[in-house]
Amino acid sequence: MLSNKRILVGITGGIAAYKSAEIVRSLRHEGAEVRVIMTKAAKEFISPLTLQALSGNRVHSELINADAEAGMGHIELAKWADIVLIAPATANFIADMTCGKADSLLGSVNLATNAHILIAPAMNQAMWKSAANQTNISHLERRGVQLIGPEEGPQACGDFGVGRMAQNTEIVKSVSEQFKVQTLRSKKVVITAGPTREAIDPVRYITNRSSGKMGYAMAEAAIDAGAHVTLISGPVAISSPERCYVINVETAHEMYKASLTACVGADVFIGAAAVADYRCETVSSKKIKRTADTITLNFKKNVDILTEIRRANKNLYLVGFAAETENIKENGYEKLRSKKLNAIVTNDVARADVGFDSDENEVYWMTQRSVTHINKKLKEKIARDLIANIANEIIAIS
Ligand code: C5P
Repeated sequence: MLSNKRILVGITGGIAAYKSAEIVRSLRHEGAEVRVIMTKAAKEFISPLTLQALSGNRVHSELINADAEAGMGHIELAKWADIVLIAPATANFIADMTCGKADSLLGSVNLATNAHILIAPAMNQAMWKSAANQTNISHLERRGVQLIGPEEGPQACGDFGVGRMAQNTEIVKSVSEQFKVQTLRSKKVVITAGPTREAIDPVRYITNRSSGKMGYAMAEAAIDAGAHVTLISGPVAISSPERCYVINVETAHEMYKASLTACVGADVFIGAAAVADYRCETVSSKKIKRTADTITLNFKKNVDILTEIRRANKNLYLVGFAAETENIKENGYEKLRSKKLNAIVTNDVARADVGFDSDENEVYWMTQRSVTHINKKLKEKIARDLIANIANEIIAIS
């Protein structure tokens, strides 16, 4: 699973540090190349020699070290890593990370790396619950750092509660899953995004609120996962991702037609567009004059794209999005059922801090069998999680 992957394991100074030896061994067993950075405190709990033997590489720990700089300094390590895994991550190190402190080798590498960072916190249950730690954790999550655990159980200090480091198997699985999204390699994915625009006359139209950010982020994430992406977009003010085929449309009918054609031979269809439910029964060919005190427009229902795509493609993996203002999960589930979707992503658009126009979102991923809450974070990060879910589901089905 991890063949040719480069995993940088950071070990900080907690009692769970002894478990890191087993994690390093398992990562190697999965085929990964592993380098280890230990903080000064970590070396009080476990010998660098153990980690050196298990990783097959010299352990790094000094920030300023003439030998290390000649070999692999902090910038090289930061660039080398495909994934940075910090296990265990102590409350103190989490606080340092939140502030972006760079006074240790591990802190500097965290700042310098473009690699995805996963942390497995381990600490006393009261420390885990503390307001300061919880604030730090939510900051890190919003920055895109991925949490593994902690789990609930008896602790080394005699307490019982949440704070134990996640099981080694779960940690190794989370690392492997980062690469699993590549399983969309060569899959054909069609995505609708943005609003549709329904003309009233040559200068006026009705539309839905939608920036297109979520659908575009889904396209980016699918491209990164190796998919061939067709993005069918309503009018938006953001630039198109590279490496995908973009079809610009205006009306729901145009979006429907383009979707139907693009879905021939496709594996996945993701309906992230905010499609207008109605269009004007007649579109005035001339600009409507501002003479009458009131005017009446008659609207006609638009085709439901997802429903029609399902009708035409029984085996397509179909994902809908539902913007709800109340009973989020119930309404989402009803749409999942009625549109015969494989999955639906629901979010609360009544909230001002996420959703429309925002760079962030907080959603539920719902399938027939399960509901998963995805915490508030950047739409790009949400999209990556959703694409990973889609890839996992496709693997499970095939
Ligand atoms: O029923 P509702 O509009 O809330 O469902 C939202 C989902 O249905 C989205 O995935 C949206 O892209 C899709 N949809 C559609 N055709 C429509 C309206 C919505 O495919 N006419």
